[in-house]
Amino acid sequence: MTGMLRLRPLTDRDLPALQELLDADPGYALRVTGEAPEPGGAVDLVVDRPPDLPANQKIVLGAFDDDGLAAVIDVLRGWPNRTTAHIGLLQVHPSRKRQGVGRRAHDLLLAHVADWAEVTTLRAAIVGTNAAEAEPFWAALGYQPTGTPRPYQAGATTTDVTAWTRSAHGSNPTPHPDQPPRRTR
Ligand SMILES: CC(C)(COP(=O)(O)OP(=O)(O)OC[C@H]1O[C@@H](n2cnc3c(N)ncnc32)[C@H](O)[C@@H]1OP(=O)(O)O)[C@@H](O)C(=O)NCCC(=O)NCCS
Repeated sequence: MTGMLRLRPLTDRDLPALQELLDADPGYALRVTGEAPEPGGAVDLVVDRPPDLPANQKIVLGAFDDDGLAAVIDVLRGWPNRTTAHIGLLQVHPSRKRQGVGRRAHDLLLAHVADWAEVTTLRAAIVGTNAAEAEPFWAALGYQPTGTPRPYQAGATTTDVTAWTRSAHGSNPTPHPDQPPRRTR
């Protein structure tokens, strides 16, 4: 990695770089959707949100350094409840994995979320077929499983999805009511 990592909202001009990041890790897409990354995946990622969530509470951030887009973070502010920010996706470019980019991007997210006074809890959701990669990462960042695993279909594979949470402001995980998790992609 070169230069300092900076976090900013993605714009339409970033869509090619975002698509390249998604395309570069077909294994991840296969594990959570049962399919290879799709050509419109970047656009879908930027626009898709729960139907009850206002558009301005869906935030897609890019972590950039001098080499370009190193990671993407999709956050739903105030979902599934007012005091929670749900991380729909935190994905590091595969060429940058295991170099501390994910942790640093998350540190920048914490600083970003610190301005959201109502948000006390950060939430991710781990799909069973991706658990070997995701669980050690979220655990290292202070998340703990909070909800009951729910059935989840990754293409033809039946698996489960589990909500993991932590405090948005401190290192102590915050208990969260059991609700069906939205997949963290
Ligand atoms: C999971 C992911 C975001 C981790 O990003 P990363 O930049 O490689 O992670 P970092 O190098 O910052 O590692 C942060 C911590 O997690 C741990 N970690 C990360 N990936 C790990 C893995 N595959 N196995 C074991 N530990 C892992 C590191 O050891 C590190 O611990 P430490 O900081 O206490 O030393 C990245 O592998 C990725 O994008 N995967 C595909 C998308 C995905 O699965 N996202 C999570 C959705 S639930």
